[in-house]
Amino acid sequence: MGPGPLIAPSLLAADFMRVGEQAQAAIAGGADVLHVDIMDGHFVPNLSMGPGFVRSAREFTDHPLDVHIMVTDALRFAEAFAEAGADSVTFHVEADCDPVKVIQLLRDRGLGVGMTLRPATPARAIQPFIESVDMVLVMTVEPGYGGQEFREDQLAKVRQVRSWLGAGRRVEVDGGISVQTAGACAEAGADVFVAGVNVFRSGDIAGAIAGLRSAAGAPRR
Ligand code: DX5
Ligand code: ZN
Repeated sequence: MGPGPLIAPSLLAADFMRVGEQAQAAIAGGADVLHVDIMDGHFVPNLSMGPGFVRSAREFTDHPLDVHIMVTDALRFAEAFAEAGADSVTFHVEADCDPVKVIQLLRDRGLGVGMTLRPATPARAIQPFIESVDMVLVMTVEPGYGGQEFREDQLAKVRQVRSWLGAGRRVEVDGGISVQTAGACAEAGADVFVAGVNVFRSGDIAGAIAGLRSAAGAPRR
């Protein structure tokens, strides 16, 4: 993958009865990564998919699978999703576990390491781990549901995280990303754009991805 912005459609917003067909349309339409949202009904109120989903997705495609685990027991599930075939796992700093152990587990297995934080969590919570991660995800909605409104107050955090990571690593935004909001995120330093409803419920998956890519094309500051 080159240095430009990456578009990561979230399969959470796909029609689960047609998820293969829609994932294929996203890949053909230029998706760089497929984002898979895992919810345990405890860390967040909602439930979504489990390791079996990622195992099937892995058999279905060689395309990169970034698995965002919104779960309390991040160590256990990082292992389960590594086992299932994820390329990278992004876990929450607020999870009930030692982040160093999760990072180590993912490194030992050769996966990409992403770390994320809820909107209310200050950037400084992840600062101690910043040298050990490949990507930081700044949540731009409260995790748990697709289709929520973008939180502009998270842009300062994107800026802060980008200043710590420098140019070589990725800053991802997730939640309420659209052609209206992606530009401000890019300007603040984001270069991975997760989008759920605005891709899969748009009626034109390829067109939505192309639109996001051009909205995300603003140069980094
Ligand atoms: C929120 C998830 C997101 C979500 C984004 O809990 O982490 O990935 O699916 O959805 P949209 O783009 O619909 O806001
Ligand atoms: Zn997500």
